[in-house]
Amino acid sequence: MTFPEKTILICDGSKCSKHKEIRKIFKESIKTHGLKDMVEVVKIECTDRCKHAPVMCFQPKNQWFTNVSMWQAEKIFKEMILD
Ligand code: FES
Repeated sequence: MTFPEKTILICDGSKCSKHKEIRKIFKESIKTHGLKDMVEVVKIECTDRCKHAPVMCFQPKNQWFTNVSMWQAEKIFKEMILD
């Protein structure tokens, strides 16, 4: 069994799951950069921060992001995964 080096925990509760485009950006970026074995996107249950949807957390840095827009998602991916 193998585990990824980095994990993107993305809330899939009722509010956050309306922002499916964000998860799509991460999944496509992982594919584009050939990081399938290194980075995994994991859906998690509501984190009780619904007013700030979409909510996500990058591991192992334990860096949380809220109210993420599409352009921010690309920027965050670059900072948290590629750099
Ligand atoms: S639905 Fe994402 S924090 Fe509640």
